Amino acid sequence: MKRGKLLFLALMMTVTIAGQNKNAPVNYDESKVPVFEVPDVMRCEDGQRVESVMQWEKKRRPELLKMFSEQEYGVTPRHTGIKVKYELVASNPKAMGGLATQKQIRFNFTGKNGKTHQALLLLYLPNNTKGRVPVIVSYNFHGNQTTTLEEDVIFSPSKELMRSAGSENWGRGEQASRWSYELALKRGYAVATMNYHDIYPDSPELREYGISPLLQGYKEDSRAGNEWGAIGVWAWGYSRIADYLEKEKRIDKDCMVVLGHSRLGKTSLWAGVQDKRFKVVISNDSGCGGAALSKRVIGENLARITANFPHWFCPAFNVYSENEAALPFDQHELLALVAPRHVYVASAEDDQWADPKGEYLSAYYTGPVYKLYNMQGLPSKEQPAIHQPQHYDVGYHIRAGKHDVTEYDWRCYLDFCDKVFGCFSTEAH
Ligand code: GCU
Repeated sequence: MKRGKLLFLALMMTVTIAGQNKNAPVNYDESKVPVFEVPDVMRCEDGQRVESVMQWEKKRRPELLKMFSEQEYGVTPRHTGIKVKYELVASNPKAMGGLATQKQIRFNFTGKNGKTHQALLLLYLPNNTKGRVPVIVSYNFHGNQTTTLEEDVIFSPSKELMRSAGSENWGRGEQASRWSYELALKRGYAVATMNYHDIYPDSPELREYGISPLLQGYKEDSRAGNEWGAIGVWAWGYSRIADYLEKEKRIDKDCMVVLGHSRLGKTSLWAGVQDKRFKVVISNDSGCGGAALSKRVIGENLARITANFPHWFCPAFNVYSENEAALPFDQHELLALVAPRHVYVASAEDDQWADPKGEYLSAYYTGPVYKLYNMQGLPSKEQPAIHQPQHYDVGYHIRAGKHDVTEYDWRCYLDFCDKVFGCFSTEAH
């Protein structure tokens, strides 16, 4: 290992000891949730109350966006200087038994420093409708080939790197249960997926194998306090997928949806907040650092997440490890930044690590911002019962079962998107 890298890891470990704590206790008892005040999304830092859309858009929204950039996910560089060329590497007009047209597009990235990197997008377009269609954009965990049994789907380039780093389950179709392609296609939606490791390999030690080294000023051995972490880089990658889809003539660029599960749900929220081309932003079981309120300190907490995944957030976020009370913001304020576009949060009953109640409350507390736009947030502070989706301008559901993405989740998302986009589904439901 290079000396610089050793020093960097030593530094990260020192920060870990000083702040984060892998063994911090985890509370699952609602009665032990600390008493706290939910930060008021409508009150500006100087105490002024937001009374108009103008004040929200010109003052409060930028102020909150800055807090999340400087203190949680890190700052997204305005101009990375990275160029992208798209290369169609495979296509099949009769994929999925004729239901879809499949395209596989290689993204060739080149940094100003001449370094290059590649990622692979898999796109399914429905054959049963003509013209432009809405699209659901969603990263996968273990490669495009795991999302379907279709033989012609190429293995994602990160497979070898991640497998040798100990990541398993890269076989064809191994995560197909999470990808309701048929359902989406029959309902007239395109689906685009990419392996998230193609953008930033998900390990604190593999940063040099992703997009990061293409950036101006990239230092292998150090990170500034507000430097973006993996979630920030993945979110940037979602925007690059949107760039491509805008050029794809079958895609309705006014109907782009970003959907992510778990760490990728955290990512879809951060991507959707920053990139207004995403009209519906869906967080599936995103939990801590995603939809769940941090200040409840129930289930996964900031000490655990920043210790176990030191590369996900910006280093400045570590300050709140075992100190959620000091946070000047909370995750409902992140969700509120999606308005007046649509945010959807989903939870699973057995996923207590992600704090389903905290996920609901976060979605609920976006209400005042939607109200500013004459839109309707979630009407009640009471979390709805299992399998009772709430589809207002904000969406929420909780389903039975574990931390996962299921066909039930997809059905709810499609119903919600139909409502938002005014689509008429081709499937009877
Ligand atoms: C871990 C992590 C969560 C994350 C999840 C996932 O459980 O603690 O924060 O959401 O992995 O991405 O599957």
